[in-house]
Amino acid sequence: MEIPHKPVLLNEVIDAFATEGDGYFIDATLGYGGHSSAILESSPNIHLIGIDRDITAINFSKERLKEFGDRVTLYHGRFSEMIGEIIENHKDKPILGVLADIGVSSLQLDQLDRGFSFDSDNLDMRMDQSSELTAERVINSYSEYELDRVLRDYGEMRNSKKVAREIVNRRPISSGRELAEMMSKIERRKGGGVHPATQLFQAIRIEVNGELDELENLLDRAKELKGAKIGIISFHSLEDRVVKRIFKDWTTSCVCPPEAFQCKCGDNHQLGKNLTKKPIVASKEEERENRRSRSAKLRLFQLD
Ligand SMILES: C[S@@+](CC[C@H](N)C(=O)[O-])C[C@H]1O[C@@H](n2cnc3c(N)ncnc32)[C@H](O)[C@@H]1O
Repeated sequence: MEIPHKPVLLNEVIDAFATEGDGYFIDATLGYGGHSSAILESSPNIHLIGIDRDITAINFSKERLKEFGDRVTLYHGRFSEMIGEIIENHKDKPILGVLADIGVSSLQLDQLDRGFSFDSDNLDMRMDQSSELTAERVINSYSEYELDRVLRDYGEMRNSKKVAREIVNRRPISSGRELAEMMSKIERRKGGGVHPATQLFQAIRIEVNGELDELENLLDRAKELKGAKIGIISFHSLEDRVVKRIFKDWTTSCVCPPEAFQCKCGDNHQLGKNLTKKPIVASKEEERENRRSRSAKLRLFQLD
């Protein structure tokens, strides 16, 4: 079986999650089953629950994880929606861990018709191809004001206004290639070979897939899982900042408003221990072998 995606930080994930414990493990971003199969191998008593919003990934992993038989249950859908149902339906054993390796898979990037790449012939970028919002709709029907907001908030583009205006002037735009060429004319290639359209594509992708809300909602439900370890691998600073902020909130014991003279909340709201004050990053060797790993950051939290 040819595997279209190399999992990042695999050894670090196994070091963090391998257990003899008897319970469930949720892989919220199953993808091509790289992390899941390693977790199933290293943790003999784990029942793995995998989620992915991309049906191609679910179908691939169903085959890949067949050898583990009834130790695996897979769900197609958004993790923000599935997590609640999974928690309700799996109360017979503890949920010992949750992993989310967020971002796009190599297969999604490499398949030109998915619209994630600078060479794409179309504008799509949906991780779930049955969802309604496409990159085509964002690019060709958002107002200049809305485009500016997306590029500024999700791409952190300093020239968001100029780029939003340029998009509106050039409409209709029909492919990723056209969009990438437009950016190449506006900006020179950045240092380290980074394509000038990188932030623009990131921004549109986050908007199309609601990626930051997904992450916040996942963590909001995951915090109920007493005793579980939570691991999030992110690939850009916006996501990493969300994880860092939420893990910090979870270690805060007093949640009284800052203007309160005296603590009235009971000073007992800390949910557990932040295991990574600094995120875990790829080794030099992994960076050489897998380019995607260069931007990966893993943060871990142990809930009490
Ligand atoms: C980087 S890949 C995961 C790769 C996987 N860890 C492996 O080893 O093969 C990310 C996957 O998460 C899925 N995904 C991203 N956001 C999601 C969400 N909100 N809900 C469910 N799946 C999501 C994508 O469709 C993609 O298949």
